[in-house]
Amino acid sequence: MKILIIGSGGREHAIAWKVSQNPSIEKVYCAPGNGGTALENKCENIPLSKIDELVNFALREKIDLTIVGPEIFLCEGIVDEFKNNGLKIFGPSKAAAKLEGSKSFAKDFMKKYGVKTPGYEVFDEAKKAINYLENCDYPVVIKADGLASGKGVVIANNKKEAEDTINAFILDDIFKGSGKTVVIEEFLQGVEASILSITDGESIIPFISAKDHKKIFDGEKGPNTGGMGVIAPNPYCTEEVLEKFKKEIMEPTLKGIKEENLDFTGIIFFGLMINQKGVYLLEYNMRMGDPETQAVLPLMKSDLVDLIEEALDKKLNGFNIEWKDLSSCCVTLVSDGYPGEYKTGFPINIEECENKECKNNEVKNFIAGAVLKDDGLVTSGGRVLNVTSLGESLQEAREKVYSNINKVNFQGAYYRKDIGDV
Ligand code: AMP
Ligand code: GLY
Repeated sequence: MKILIIGSGGREHAIAWKVSQNPSIEKVYCAPGNGGTALENKCENIPLSKIDELVNFALREKIDLTIVGPEIFLCEGIVDEFKNNGLKIFGPSKAAAKLEGSKSFAKDFMKKYGVKTPGYEVFDEAKKAINYLENCDYPVVIKADGLASGKGVVIANNKKEAEDTINAFILDDIFKGSGKTVVIEEFLQGVEASILSITDGESIIPFISAKDHKKIFDGEKGPNTGGMGVIAPNPYCTEEVLEKFKKEIMEPTLKGIKEENLDFTGIIFFGLMINQKGVYLLEYNMRMGDPETQAVLPLMKSDLVDLIEEALDKKLNGFNIEWKDLSSCCVTLVSDGYPGEYKTGFPINIEECENKECKNNEVKNFIAGAVLKDDGLVTSGGRVLNVTSLGESLQEAREKVYSNINKVNFQGAYYRKDIGDV
């Protein structure tokens, strides 16, 4: 079998690493891939990132299965294009990807099907939104409706901040269309959890739970990032929490997918907030998380290609995904200045990054914003790489990551020291 993976982050490196372990996989193409996928077993990078070029490549190379990483391709309708050309692809249609691509669509869907979520209102006129602020409790959460590279959510501490945000989103149009509509949402205190899941449109199977660490600084301080590290399983996802998640979030979501005929096979990533009042859904992502994937896939005992094929054949019902009885810790190294301005082009000194299996006794480096040049890996992005380890306990996984992390070096490398400090 030949596989095509679309994307260039740490998530795509982890997917490439996992699928290449299946003995019937002969070749894994990564478009465009990164320095990690360039070095990974059976993998080859191809410099394509336009949907029509990718379709042509998949037809020409007789690709058996395509897996899509980033939401942007999904929201642009890559799955529909591939299917129209008779190609097998794993991911939501353009219509289903709207559950991630439009927060107002997602919130209305949650409300309609009784998915537990914080209260909200939707506005596309700044004046009406600002009037509504009169009666809000603070902090209040303001969200750009469309995709905004993780920058579209602002927690406004008072009316002035909320008003400035609404003006920036709607009137100044800082997200070039994506913030013309806003969702104003009730703020919830609590701990967050990421639950990835797989669906074939008829059933959903949750993956092992994960905990992202979104802020740049230790102690969850400073601005939001794409994610600075993940542990799995998430210690706050007790049996009781998972039960509530299934009953009050996952099952009504599946009901909605069926009733709306959003027939698709792909990932649903539930972004949850857990507090004394229960378990709430903050958002759907219709793709794997980054860096959640880098912590979750090493714990998956089952074969990912087999799982995806079962889902594409609509045979998920009753499928048992097997997980290692271990814990995982993944810490992200970023460029100095990230999530603001940063420089790239620095050589990375690293002791081995290819072909490791991330077994119990090994640390695996999943490369994100780095490319392979003649002399080795060079930084090319904000989040540069992820160091992941498994352990018998969370403590052991953490210790392994932090005692190995200094084997990776590049100018200005920064990472959080408290990932998994729960
Ligand atoms: P979202 O893209 O909707 O998941 O929001 C991004 C981040 O903003 C979340 O991971 C939370 O940290 C925070 N957030 C979003 N909605 C809320 C809310 N209603 N209450 C508190 N924090 C929130
Ligand atoms: N780590 C959060 C995300 O992938 O959206």
